[in-house]
Amino acid sequence: MNDINTMISLIENALDNSLPSEDCLEAELIKAMKYSLKAGGKRVRPLLTLMFADACSGTIEAALPFACAVEMIHTYSLIHDDLPCMDNDDYRRGRPSNHKVFGEDIALLAGDALLTLAFETALSQADNNNTSAKAASVLARYAGAKGMVGGQTIDLTYENKNASVDILKEMDVKKTSALIMAACEMGCISAGADDKRISAARAFGENIGLAFQIIDDILDVTSTSSELGKPVGSDAENNKSTYVSLLGLDKCKEIANELTEKAVRSLDEFESDTSQIKEFALSLLNRKN
Ligand code: IPE
Ligand code: IPE
Ligand code: MG
Ligand code: MG
Ligand code: MG
Repeated sequence: MNDINTMISLIENALDNSLPSEDCLEAELIKAMKYSLKAGGKRVRPLLTLMFADACSGTIEAALPFACAVEMIHTYSLIHDDLPCMDNDDYRRGRPSNHKVFGEDIALLAGDALLTLAFETALSQADNNNTSAKAASVLARYAGAKGMVGGQTIDLTYENKNASVDILKEMDVKKTSALIMAACEMGCISAGADDKRISAARAFGENIGLAFQIIDDILDVTSTSSELGKPVGSDAENNKSTYVSLLGLDKCKEIANELTEKAVRSLDEFESDTSQIKEFALSLLNRKN
């Protein structure tokens, strides 16, 4: 088992190596992709991929392409999320949003290109036992119309409207849990894990993802933009329907705690040592950014 900082540097290196060269006519596009991909996100999703691979006795080498792929899709979702036609936010990962630097046209294309690079990367170590195809198919499903993109659509649909808890849950599971579920499941798949462990990873990802979005919504109210590296008050400004707008901060903290406990309970399905995942899940509950 590697410590978190070692895993982060392996992820950063692999991300660097997967970016195309800038020595080309479309250099501006590659610069825009790199600008957001290398802006220093927390790398929660790729870390989970590596941790679940380890919990299933897999190797970092086999899991890394999938870890990078999910981070690329996440980064593309953030570039598009900040565009004026979506949340219209000018600040991300501690620096001006992609479209503030490269313009909306290149930001849109940089997002598109990160999405396709994700699948190129996921399939880069294609093997004979179908692991890459299985993982890429999971990633495609969770990233698409019934996953993250679907959730982002529900998010926009419920601006200026009241959403019930059931609708908010579906929205957050799709827009945020989906990629986290993909991250956890792909870690298991890369290690050749059985369905029992893959389903446990899915349950963990769904609950930790929901808690993660609820905390993101709490921080949008309680934090500062210098601590978050992105604007605060964005949800209120856009009249978003969130758990916080519906239930208030205290109830939301309680729900995030319960969801994290529930997520941690699904780790019991693994016979291996899952203390690192547990500790990481608990640290996400108290995160400051
Ligand atoms: C922000 O995700 C968007 C949500 C789904 C809440 P992160 O909080 O993981 O953002 P980075 O990757 O650290 O920038
Ligand atoms: C974003 O939710 C979810 C995504 C799929 C990108 P938010 O709109 O709340 O994310 P932030 O707060 O801008 O990072
Ligand atoms: Mg949004
Ligand atoms: Mg946003
Ligand atoms: Mg937010």
